[in-house]
Amino acid sequence: MENLAPLYPEHISELNRRVAEIVARENLSGLVIHSGQPHRQFLDDMDYPFKVNPQFKAWLPIVDNPHCWLLVNGKDKPQLIFYRPVDFWHKVAELPDDFWTSEVEIKLLTKADKVAELLPKDIGNWAYIGEHLDVAEVLGFRSRNPDAVMSYLHYHRATKTQYELACMRQANEIAVRGHVAAKGAFYSGASEFQIQQAYLAATDQGENEVPYGNIVALNQNAAILHYTALEHDTPAQRLSFLIDAGANFHGYASDITRTYAFEKNQFGDLIAAMDKLQLEVIEMMRPGVKYVDLHIITHQKLAQILLDFKLVTGDKQGLIDQGITSAFFPHGLGHMLGLQVHDMGGFLHDERGTHIAAPEAHPFLRCTRTLAVNQVLTIEPGLYIIDTLLNELKADARGNQVNWNMVDQLRPFGGIRIEDNVIVHSDHIENMTRDLGLHG
Ligand code: GLY
Ligand code: MN
Ligand code: MN
Repeated sequence: MENLAPLYPEHISELNRRVAEIVARENLSGLVIHSGQPHRQFLDDMDYPFKVNPQFKAWLPIVDNPHCWLLVNGKDKPQLIFYRPVDFWHKVAELPDDFWTSEVEIKLLTKADKVAELLPKDIGNWAYIGEHLDVAEVLGFRSRNPDAVMSYLHYHRATKTQYELACMRQANEIAVRGHVAAKGAFYSGASEFQIQQAYLAATDQGENEVPYGNIVALNQNAAILHYTALEHDTPAQRLSFLIDAGANFHGYASDITRTYAFEKNQFGDLIAAMDKLQLEVIEMMRPGVKYVDLHIITHQKLAQILLDFKLVTGDKQGLIDQGITSAFFPHGLGHMLGLQVHDMGGFLHDERGTHIAAPEAHPFLRCTRTLAVNQVLTIEPGLYIIDTLLNELKADARGNQVNWNMVDQLRPFGGIRIEDNVIVHSDHIENMTRDLGLHG
């Protein structure tokens, strides 16, 4: 693992530089970033798993402590108000002592409702950044998640610091361990639930620690894009396996998908073709390239695969224009990745928040940005047999271009997605996932 200590001060300087610029522009004294508060389950005395404010974990690798606050103004050392109650029911967070602690000034908070005593006196001039607007109002913040500040932070968050890139490589390394274990479990006959357990054990992360609900799908379940049901029974016949699963490192996510055929067959050949397509698209990434263009190129390449495998007939452009490729590949090529799996800012074109929506024909695309150095993105083309979408083709003339026998043959295999996490550098592309030896 890369040593984070030498990278962290530069990370803090960059975040401070951004804060200094935006608070000067907005005439603010600074930002007060709230880690969050627990959410209580309805009619219960238990809380939902705590999910920290991403703007908070952007500064520090604290992801599990509510009622913490960070005061930043871009000039002074960031101040961390660290929650450490007297509590014999729950584990109380240890006082942090790590590679990052010398870069912040730490004050302790023992009672959550006493935070006002530790906040700046001119609180009305500071902006609250967090989820609990009612709390912010009571504390006297006039400015709460102001649009200009949020757009600025979200836009610049796409450019990762060297510290963040190191964290994301590590998040990939942990997830790849899980993927290797999951693949082994699939070939040795495990159920979806057992594969999930093998994955979590290998990553040493619980299901509330990984960045999103893992998609562990056998056979036809692979056609359900966000399948998270985890069947306990093993299917009578084992045909295919799609796993979309990531890992967390210091609050940064990885997001990786692989698809396997149980035996050597046509579905396996289709996986190989999709793998080749995915690598070709990654090869085209460089600063200045528009992500939308990569998505469109993916449809062109997919049209060729559909023709090569005799799933459809017609000409490539016609297949795209009529929405036939979209019926097989309905989601976007990928998204920005970082503190969140679908990192904020995918549609922002400048720091003032100019939004560029996905093209009308591709409504599920999550990124319309132009690639730039130190951005991290996923590239995740797919090909699925989704009956609800294919039936729309069947209902009109487009149905004549589809080879329904072939669709019937492939249906039990569900679908294919191959997803890697990629860094854009000035002169090359770094595929963090493949660099760890996880092939398609
Ligand atoms: N795992 C969610 C996604 O691939 O976007
Ligand atoms: Mn994914
Ligand atoms: Mn993804």
